[in-house]
Parts: sequence; C-alpha cells; structure tokens
Amino acid sequence: MPHLGWDCDALGTDSVLLVVDHPRLEEKLIYNSLKEKGLKVGILNVTTTPLPINGVKIPEIALIRTVGMFRGVRSSAVLESMGSHSINSSSTIMTCGDKVLTYSALSKLGIPIPKSLLALGRDAVLKAYGEFQGVVVDKPPLGSWGRMVSLIKSAEMAVQIADARGMMPSSLRGHVIQEYIETGGRDIRCLVLGERTIGCMERMASTGWKSNVALGGKVRPIKATSVVEELSLKAAEAVKGEFVAVDLLSNEEVLVNEVNGVPEFKGFIKATGIDVAKELASYIWEVLRS
Ligand SMILES: Nc1ncnc2c1ncn2[C@@H]1O[C@H](COP(=O)(O)OP(=O)(O)O)[C@@H](O)[C@H]1O
Ligand SMILES: [Mg+2]
Repeated sequence: MPHLGWDCDALGTDSVLLVVDHPRLEEKLIYNSLKEKGLKVGILNVTTTPLPINGVKIPEIALIRTVGMFRGVRSSAVLESMGSHSINSSSTIMTCGDKVLTYSALSKLGIPIPKSLLALGRDAVLKAYGEFQGVVVDKPPLGSWGRMVSLIKSAEMAVQIADARGMMPSSLRGHVIQEYIETGGRDIRCLVLGERTIGCMERMASTGWKSNVALGGKVRPIKATSVVEELSLKAAEAVKGEFVAVDLLSNEEVLVNEVNGVPEFKGFIKATGIDVAKELASYIWEVLRS
C-alpha cells in the first residue's frame, strides 16, 4: 500500500481517504476494493502525518480505520468539520467506543441489553455487585478484545477490581456491572452496512467464557433469525452507524452486548466467505453517486 500524505490523490470529488494508525489486512482489502471501483483512494496514517484542522482540501469520504478509538474520534471530527462524509461519524465512533454511551443509546431506543449498572467508585461497585445473585460481569467503559472484562465471584473480588481500576487512567476507572448471561461462551456478530445486514456469524470461546476472536474464539457462519436481524439494524440506528458490527448474546432472550464503530472483519470473512471489503466499496460507490 502506498503511503500518501495531504498532497495525495484522495482529494475532491469521488475520493476516499482511509484514515489509519496501524494498517491491517482489512485496510489493504478495502484499499484494493475501492481501487477496483475506480475511485481515488489515499491512505493517511495519523501517527506519521498531521491532519490540518483548518484545511481546505478534503476527501469526499473519510473512512476511519484506526485501531485507537480516540484517534478515530478525533480525526473523524476534523475531517467532518471540513465537510468530508466520515464513515463512521465521530459521534458514532465515540458512542460505540464507550460501553456506557453505547448501552445508553441502545436503551433509549428500547433495545434489550444485559441488566447493567454504572458504578463510578468503590462503594458503588460493591452496592452494584450486591444487586445481583451469584456471578457478575465487570467491564471498564473503554476497551476491546475482552481485556479487563472480568467475572466477579465475591464481594472481596469486587473490591479488588475496584481498587485496581482506581489506579488506572480516569478513562478506565468506571465500571459497568452486569448480569452474567449463560451462553456457553457463544455470541453472535452481525455486520451492518447502510440499511442492511451483510451477514452474521457465531463466535465460540475456545477457552473460558469470552468469545473474542482475539482470545482464540472460533467462528462459524449463521443465518440470522428475524429477531437478530431486526435488533442488529435497530442497534446500528441507535448509534447512527453506517458500517458497524453488532454483538448479541442469546439465551432465553436476545440482547445486544456491544456495537463496534470500526469493525475488524478478518474473522468474519473466514467464517462467512463474504467479501466485506467489496461490499463496503460498493456501498461507498453508491453513497458517492447519491
Ligand atoms: N454479560 C455478559 N454475559 C456473558 N458473557 C459476556 C457478557 N459480557 C461480555 N461477555 C463475553 O465477553 C466478551 C467480551 O465482552 P465485551 O463486552 O464484548 O467486551 P470487549 O469490548 O472487550 O469485546 C463477549 O464477546 C462475550 O463473549
Ligand atoms: Mg466485544
């Protein structure tokens, strides 16, 4: 992939700028698919090239593909301010990046989520733990790949987690204290693009209870039920996402657990065979035509 700065081709009509920090296979696939569509494509690595906040030359579409959530939020905000159409928008990336904001946005639309309490201090954590029976899930508002998502099995553990988190940067200090949904380590991930679901897969934890592919979770394609399909679309709408991954937990009821604003999709391609990059390039092509 060529590295392009601001004096690149990806400016003006029919241009797409991929905004990255640590380009992965996904970004390479997207770059190639956009090129195949005949679009002007550039890549901007925000860790090596500054973004002018008051710049005038802009890409028509900014496709935010940073691993770092705040890098995505901030570069998206800057590009939007200059008039680029950012996918996803800075506010979507922010809402999806913070689990408290995500759950709030989902609840606002009446979308079912696991029963959750926000605890912003040690005493609140203990009281929140006391609201549930047995095992409880604790997650920091920010984070991915299952990191720091923990099972609390006793009041002593709740206090230990709260104390450890209290030593961390303020962005990680809060707690979502949540009912543990008995799923056998399974969850469902659907990719939503525009107004439709492009496919769904099941993720199954290889060890333990967390299904994250980054933790070795195994994937297989599934056909979405109408409930899963509807909830995925509604969750995308709740965060105003154009290209998002919706994660659902299912036992007696289907619940939305998470919405990802910069979806990774290597595992999804492996499971479903769906050419996500091609679908995304076609969607962007349509957006540019409309
Ligand atoms: N309330 C819950 N009940 C059961 N399993 C859960 C619950 N919350 C999370 N998990 C499991 O843990 C994994 C990681 O949690 P998640 O909230 O998705 O955080 P992350 O953003 O780190 O992926 C999920 O994919 C799911 O398998
Ligand atoms: Mg997750």
